[in-house]
Amino acid sequence: MKKKVEIDWKNLGFDYMKTDQRYLSYWKSGNWDKGVLTEDNVLHLGEASPCLHYGQQCFEGLKAYRTKNGDIQLFRVNQNAKRLQDSCRRLLMPEIPEETFIKACSDVVKANEAYLPPYGTGGSLYIRPMVIGVGNSIAVKPASEFLFTVFCMPVGAYFKGGMTPVNFMISAYDRAACYGTGQQKVGGNYAASLIAHKIAVKKGFADCIYLDPTTHTKIEEVGAANFFGITKNNHFVTPKSSSILPSITKYSLLYLAENVLGLKTSEKDVYIDELDEFSEAGACGTAAVITPIGGIEYKNKLHVFFSETEVGPITTKLYDTLTAIQLGDIEGPEGWITKL
Ligand SMILES: Cc1ncc(COP(=O)(O)O)c(C=O)c1O
Repeated sequence: MKKKVEIDWKNLGFDYMKTDQRYLSYWKSGNWDKGVLTEDNVLHLGEASPCLHYGQQCFEGLKAYRTKNGDIQLFRVNQNAKRLQDSCRRLLMPEIPEETFIKACSDVVKANEAYLPPYGTGGSLYIRPMVIGVGNSIAVKPASEFLFTVFCMPVGAYFKGGMTPVNFMISAYDRAACYGTGQQKVGGNYAASLIAHKIAVKKGFADCIYLDPTTHTKIEEVGAANFFGITKNNHFVTPKSSSILPSITKYSLLYLAENVLGLKTSEKDVYIDELDEFSEAGACGTAAVITPIGGIEYKNKLHVFFSETEVGPITTKLYDTLTAIQLGDIEGPEGWITKL
């Protein structure tokens, strides 16, 4: 008989929950071992592990969805596999082969199927893979051993009552340097962003927007999400920069904007003093898919896009199309969906 867990699906947030099994694999002497599923959710690390001192670690975030007919599917898992490989290369860590990554994610989801929110609740199973440098070595150099682990937890719909616009402020801090690790999903970028987020929330904003670290004139990231704007003549525009994380959601929206909505699209510089060209704007990422941007505060003035309370028509169409693909209500482009 299939296991059942008592979870209030409709009121799930984004909080850690211990599920039954997680994947664990060790790298030593040049090879990843076979990997196992384990019930133990505590990692046993040497106290001089480089991940703890020098931030030699990277991670990913993706979701599994339950479809209307009860199937389970992953969204663009191969893209997360590739991005983790890129992060590993940047921090001199051994890469996880794409097939290993996909199998580890799939096995963890299947082993914790009871925690996958039912179709219609707005919830999903969030999957968190990570690679960390372990083994005791106190010098600043790459670790001698590594650990790849994947765990998952049920998460709720980001917007309980439907998409709602929120306001952001421009941060005086940078999250990443020009040729630093902004393009990779590494913990140090997030540690650097905590203070900026705290200040924004204290001032009553949902989060902050980071400008480019060199000139502080161009939009980079919206908290832990990418930015997109819809111009007054219906172009989908998103920033191009060496210090932003290539969002899988953003590239999916860009594809849909071009191929389903028939919009022109471009990746280019988005100057903070040229926001007038946009009639709609949003933040995009795995967590919320799209967070509509009501307004952005810059130099003590709030620039409002579509509305502070309503969501624009193109943002709505993009959101509806992408979430329908993720939930299996409509077919996605080839290769986007992996059925388990
Ligand atoms: C800094 C940052 N930018 C953008 C994103 C959005 O990326 P994705 O769409 O792949 O979730 C995330 C979330 O993963 C992020 O942490």
